[in-house]
Amino acid sequence: MTVIRVENARKVYRTTQKEPGVLGALKALARPHYVDKVAVDDLSFTLEAGEIVGYIGVNGAGKSTTIKMLTGILMPTGGRITVFGRDPHKDRIANAREIGVVFGQRTQLWWDLALIESLNTLAKIYQIPPTRYRQLLDEFAETLELKELLPMQIRSMSLGQKMRAELAATLLHDPKVVYLDEPTIGLDLIVKERIRAFIKKQAQQTGTTVILTTHDLGDIEELCQRVMIIDAGRLIYDGPIQTIKERFGKFRGITFETAGDIGSYQLPVGVQTESEADHKLVLRFDRTLTTASQVAAAIMNQIEVVDFSLTEPDLSSIVKQIYQGALKDAAHPEPQRAGAL
Ligand SMILES: Nc1ncnc2c1ncn2[C@@H]1O[C@H](COP(=O)(O)OP(=O)(O)OP(=O)(O)O)[C@@H](O)[C@H]1O
Ligand SMILES: [Mg+2]
Repeated sequence: MTVIRVENARKVYRTTQKEPGVLGALKALARPHYVDKVAVDDLSFTLEAGEIVGYIGVNGAGKSTTIKMLTGILMPTGGRITVFGRDPHKDRIANAREIGVVFGQRTQLWWDLALIESLNTLAKIYQIPPTRYRQLLDEFAETLELKELLPMQIRSMSLGQKMRAELAATLLHDPKVVYLDEPTIGLDLIVKERIRAFIKKQAQQTGTTVILTTHDLGDIEELCQRVMIIDAGRLIYDGPIQTIKERFGKFRGITFETAGDIGSYQLPVGVQTESEADHKLVLRFDRTLTTASQVAAAIMNQIEVVDFSLTEPDLSSIVKQIYQGALKDAAHPEPQRAGAL
């Protein structure tokens, strides 16, 4: 079932620009000088129920703007967006019942209330039946280790505690679509792991559709099969993570453990030395020029090798290449579907 449908969505922010100083402010009042910023341009995609999609792009690419349009906070300047067949901006109230939103940089909880008071209030607002509410509290107490946080005021929580509280509050009314805008920002590795595991479990159990924006590709690797990349407001890739790795992961690593000192050796075409320490030689090769077995054979002819292993291309280095223009340079007017790459 298609949950989200975005057709040629566009968002232009109009801001007034003023010259510095009081005079500038007065001038701007009398005759405002408008500057238009196209934040999202000709964006189209659909999302099926139960998908967890990673939405990535450099700072200012248009991710948060997209999320704000999907949640109904912002109205698109052009194009059409529907969530469960509804216009999320016009039908904001009906839409709010179906969705959950987390903005990692901002809390939506009441700053001065204890977490349990906030949750109680939300349970009333959403008219969650008391038995269901208790069941959810028990569940979250375990999966988010929430128990010790319930009596705490939000203002006195650490960043990681706040995010766990935030997720509980967001998922309290069983939303069918969840928008997570940088949910792991600033968190330590252990809390990150816990939150990823929680999102995964929750999505699997409830069949929730999730859009996740993040700069942490670990989030994407662990949670998403599909990834969308936005650049300067335009979708430049939409497809499986695996395809990005296969098509763009031109380089692969190969590590040799040697019996004795490495000594001198010759490298075949398309191979570079990454590092060389006692008894360990790490090479990098271009898959389009040679193969792992050719590299292994060439090295083993020259050096006595005890063991060797291959390393897969690292997603973050691939995405860096894509951000730097690998896809744009391909000059495809349409976003790259997996099959077209
Ligand atoms: N309220 C606003 N008024 C004017 N311009 C805005 C406004 N909000 C965002 N922009 C501009 O729109 C563009 C997209 O911003 P957006 O916040 O969607 O980016 P993002 O992909 O979420 O970036 P980040 O990774 O930094 O969170 C940026 O150039 C930004 O400066
Ligand atoms: Mg953002």
